[in-house]
Amino acid sequence: MEQCAQQVIALCRKLAGFTEEPGHITRTFLSPPMHQVHAELRSRMERLGMAVFTDAAGNLRGYYPAKSSSSLRLIMGSHLDTVPRAGAFDGVLGVVLGIALVEALQGKRLSLGLEIIGFSEEEGVRFAFPFIGSRALAGTLDAPALERRGPDGLSIADAIRAFGLDPAHLPAAKLAEETVGYLEFHIEQGPVLEGLNYPLGIVEHIVGQSRASICFIGKAGHAGTTPMKLRHDALAAAAQWITLVEAEAHKVPGLVATVGCLEIEPNATNVIAGSVRASLDVRHARDQLRHRAVDRLLDVAKQLANDRGLSIEWTQHLDQPATAMNPAITKKLSDAVMAAGYPVHPMVSGAGHDAMILAEQVPTAMLFLRSPGGISHHPDETVLATDVAAALTSGMNFLNAIGETR
Ligand code: HGY
Ligand code: MN
Ligand code: MN
Repeated sequence: MEQCAQQVIALCRKLAGFTEEPGHITRTFLSPPMHQVHAELRSRMERLGMAVFTDAAGNLRGYYPAKSSSSLRLIMGSHLDTVPRAGAFDGVLGVVLGIALVEALQGKRLSLGLEIIGFSEEEGVRFAFPFIGSRALAGTLDAPALERRGPDGLSIADAIRAFGLDPAHLPAAKLAEETVGYLEFHIEQGPVLEGLNYPLGIVEHIVGQSRASICFIGKAGHAGTTPMKLRHDALAAAAQWITLVEAEAHKVPGLVATVGCLEIEPNATNVIAGSVRASLDVRHARDQLRHRAVDRLLDVAKQLANDRGLSIEWTQHLDQPATAMNPAITKKLSDAVMAAGYPVHPMVSGAGHDAMILAEQVPTAMLFLRSPGGISHHPDETVLATDVAAALTSGMNFLNAIGETR
């Protein structure tokens, strides 16, 4: 499996070269380089005898039939989009590992088919709305969602059409009735497995996630002639709020809160900021605590804006509940890891994944691979070949177990 592991890593690094930003890894929802990713993966899957198509949400889907006429199937996959200036493994590793397992079967057919899916969008970068690809499989990519617009004014439906697809065909993207489960391989993106010196982790549940944007609306003015006491400075207000967001998160064990984006108007050295739009990402394993934190941060924003003579506009983009993985299929995955001779470490995922959406539809499990340095959403993100080999061996054990017990 070591050689196969090296090939998996090499392919992930090749896919990283298909980017919107030369010199960086940036590939957002159905951007032009996604065509190159599809072409590369399509040719590899077709060489394995898989039937490959792109669904109306831009998911790349390959099917490896079962040995009999059984149409029962297991889906394995992850997302092909990235955050801006990403690493080479977040998402794509899960798709490449799925294809590598089909290749490792060397033509052997299981009692159920295997569907490998490269989801078109999970990160929520282009439209501040994540999981577009997996929502199409769940049948929840509805008309209001398709009308969401990005910074360029285009809607999700426009982006689908620009990629050469037809949103009218979205109903056909729904996952097959005969799907018995979903398995997602993914890098941990955090420091836990490295701290334990374990190659793999078994995800028991994924924390809930809130995403919102808040606009502080003050009054632009001359930086040189406006006395401090007459100012309604939107950037000073946003800066004060951002430090309060951080302070609140430190107070609640297990809570993380992040302001990652700022849009400043008019964004000039000698002009007092008239308006500032800030993003907010809040996560916790318990939804009640996450909701309470979001409410608190909104209250704090209202109070400080009022004190400064500003107003605010609040838009909630996402309220994704904490999601448990399916115990039965997760037990099979744990048994597969144990049979491969690796420690079984149940853990929580602080990152969101397509598995959150699939888990509402079919029994779902996730296998984490160690993130050296705990680094992710960064060019230094990487994996160890020995850990990829561990995931392949465990994955093959899992397929043989789930494939034979029918
Ligand atoms: O943001 C996340 O949790 C993941 O990387 N999409
Ligand atoms: Mn990510
Ligand atoms: Mn990811």
